[in-house]
Amino acid sequence: MDSPKTALADPKIIDGKDISQAVKGELALAVAEAIKGKTRNPGLAVVLVGDNPASKAYVKSKIAACKAVGIESFLIELPADTAQAVVAEKVKALNLDQKVDGILVQLPLPKQISSAAILALIDPAKDVDGLCAVNAGLLLQGADGLFPCTPLGVMRLLAHHDVALAGKNAVVVGRSHLVGKPLAMMLLQENATVTICHSKTANLPEVCRQADVLVAACGQAEMVKGSWVKPGAVVIDVGINRVESSDGKGRLVGDVAYNEAYEQARLITPVPGGVGPMTVAMLLSNTLKAFNSRIG
Ligand code: GUN
Repeated sequence: MDSPKTALADPKIIDGKDISQAVKGELALAVAEAIKGKTRNPGLAVVLVGDNPASKAYVKSKIAACKAVGIESFLIELPADTAQAVVAEKVKALNLDQKVDGILVQLPLPKQISSAAILALIDPAKDVDGLCAVNAGLLLQGADGLFPCTPLGVMRLLAHHDVALAGKNAVVVGRSHLVGKPLAMMLLQENATVTICHSKTANLPEVCRQADVLVAACGQAEMVKGSWVKPGAVVIDVGINRVESSDGKGRLVGDVAYNEAYEQARLITPVPGGVGPMTVAMLLSNTLKAFNSRIG
């Protein structure tokens, strides 16, 4: 396989790294504006249970990003064998902590802990992951709320490239709470005709070929083939999968067979450097939004 095409000056490639930097620049200015006359900066609490290396790396990048835009972060690290009740008490304390505007419980949690039960405890006004039932319901209603960061990041990438959505066919492959379902609602809100596909969808390649905007968020390495992409479509790859490579180090690929899809697409996100960097930027944006609603 060819090496992935780089984002350098290729107008077909949606450069999430570059766009997320621009968003963070805007956020730094917005934070500076929001704290004028206030006694504190926005605050994000991140709860990390256990020592999953990928989670640790994500949390580190979230905390560094907070610092870069003027958001104070509070890292709560708990051992892998922490009981559910202890995590629950921590979340309840953060709900009451006035310095904390956003609470993020890094997933996945160790198996003795019910993620659903913990996420349900987060005050909806501090739910910067947008995963609680109140915020999911607000999104479904087309009302304002705190919504999941990865779908928000995808919408931001589409807006940045002026991708028309009204009346267009958008196909989302994947129905997770974190990405597929909320993204489908956001695309619908922009008047796209939305199809959500999943493991039981019949004629999946055929359905994908109808898409003007095709989003792969199924968690299967390179599942979406070039032949599934309508010529001229916009392809958004939410996947991040480590696969074996000849040097034994492994390499990151998305849920889209990139080089094949690149040939068909009008615009496409690379992996890494596409959707991924936007997730952190939108977390910061949600934290500022929570700060403004709570303090304003
Ligand atoms: N783990 C992987 N992605 C996410 C995310 O967006 N939020 C949380 N809380 N955990 C994650």
